[in-house]
Amino acid sequence: ALVVRHRMRSSGRWARAMAILKDLEEKCATPIGKLRQVADAMTVEMLAGLASEGGSKLKMLISYVDNLPTGDETGLFYALDLGGTNFRVLRVQLGGKGGYVVRQEFEEVSIPPNLMVGSSSELFDFIAAALAKFVASEGEEFHLPVGRQRELGFTFSFPVKQTSISSGTLIKWTKGFAINGTVGEDVVAELTKAMERQGLDMRVTALVNDTIGTLAGGRYYDNDVVAAVILGTGTNAAYVEHAQAIPKWHGLLPKSGKMVINMEWGNFRSSHLPITEYDQALDVESLNPGEQVISSSTSLSTKNWLFRFICTLFFYSQIFEKLISGMYLGEIVRRVLLRMAEEAALFGDSVPPNLEVQFILRTPDMSAMHHDTSSDLRVVGTKLKDILGISNTSLKTRKLVVKVCDIIASRGARLAAAGILGVLKKQDRDNAARDGSDMQRTVIAMDGGLYEHYTRFRNCLETTLREMLGEEAAPSIVIKLASDGSGIGAALLAASHSQYLELEES
Ligand code: GLC
Repeated sequence: ALVVRHRMRSSGRWARAMAILKDLEEKCATPIGKLRQVADAMTVEMLAGLASEGGSKLKMLISYVDNLPTGDETGLFYALDLGGTNFRVLRVQLGGKGGYVVRQEFEEVSIPPNLMVGSSSELFDFIAAALAKFVASEGEEFHLPVGRQRELGFTFSFPVKQTSISSGTLIKWTKGFAINGTVGEDVVAELTKAMERQGLDMRVTALVNDTIGTLAGGRYYDNDVVAAVILGTGTNAAYVEHAQAIPKWHGLLPKSGKMVINMEWGNFRSSHLPITEYDQALDVESLNPGEQVISSSTSLSTKNWLFRFICTLFFYSQIFEKLISGMYLGEIVRRVLLRMAEEAALFGDSVPPNLEVQFILRTPDMSAMHHDTSSDLRVVGTKLKDILGISNTSLKTRKLVVKVCDIIASRGARLAAAGILGVLKKQDRDNAARDGSDMQRTVIAMDGGLYEHYTRFRNCLETTLREMLGEEAAPSIVIKLASDGSGIGAALLAASHSQYLELEES
């Protein structure tokens, strides 16, 4: 009788785990109809964000880039790329038309985690020191005309309110960064001061978001690039807009008639987004919760359901990013598994302690589990053991874990596809031309480790986008991987905004 009771108990546990899974699947569902609503909402919010400052959760930031690279750029330029767990420094010798990138060198440095949440000057000093070291290693094959200052394109992948092509203030930190005292400051001034402290004589001539850098780098090699998307630690998009379609722009109309917009789509919000209680809890407990009051002055007990409901309506921060990007996917999976462990004893009678550690399950590990093709799901077993300390899982349990990964990755990939469709709609490139002529080729430059390395995510995104575009339009839309396009892009924009340009032209 004891054995039977035990069996019943364990089958009851399994039923509970399946119920949690089913509930997750339902709440994360993204049928095409819903995705179309998301895409439409994206287009609507884009219009609102362009209309007025604060008109939408979508900031639609003006980049001051009104001309994209032509291929004529020449000379030696540097780029510095800050925005993820690593930063990169790059130098490139541009050869002008026919020459393109004659020579390039880069170095990648990982940022010590304590600097991501420390003080502004510590972070900038660390970066400037690495940059100075890199500049010192410049070989003779790189050529700078005598008497000239070295120039730098600074890719800073956070929301910045630009005040010119080479200055701008930080609006807020996103992703894993939370540094006191930088918000509201001019990040170019901060970097310049740090470079001076290092004795490095260099001038920032372009400050760009990574999406803008990727767009510029993409256009350099392919004239049909009109938008860029990042799917990495964070997610965002930029695209070429008609300057006249930006009511909030009060400056002179650029000669080109165009202006590149950094959407900051990570902060996109819509009632059509499939948000679960796991996402809500992640948002509330994150470094950048929907509203600071939630984490700072509010005690845990007041974080009741009503409070969370209000958060849902008003306060989410970077919620689109938190549903899609590499920083968060693994963490969402961990939260689901934790619930299964707590309520369905999925991993035995006690909850494995590691499962309670935030961000312990990284998206690359989730991806490895999701791609496990071995018949006994060996990789899943190893990851569960090595990362979460859970050994001896049954095949059934491992399959369940893969299923959770699949639900979370598919939701993210499909929402990203809907976001892209929203941008294409705004640019009127989602449909065969009204006059019946052939569709223009449209290229989206893509960068980011999530897209590059998480094959199932990438495949799901592409299949979904094709399905939404339909047979007629799909063949004209191309997603082109531009690995580190943003570094080259920033160097190109540094070149086209060089202080010596007029000198050369005259
Ligand atoms: C975050 C940043 C944004 C950046 C994106 C991708 O969303 O706010 O500026 O482009 O991550 O790195």
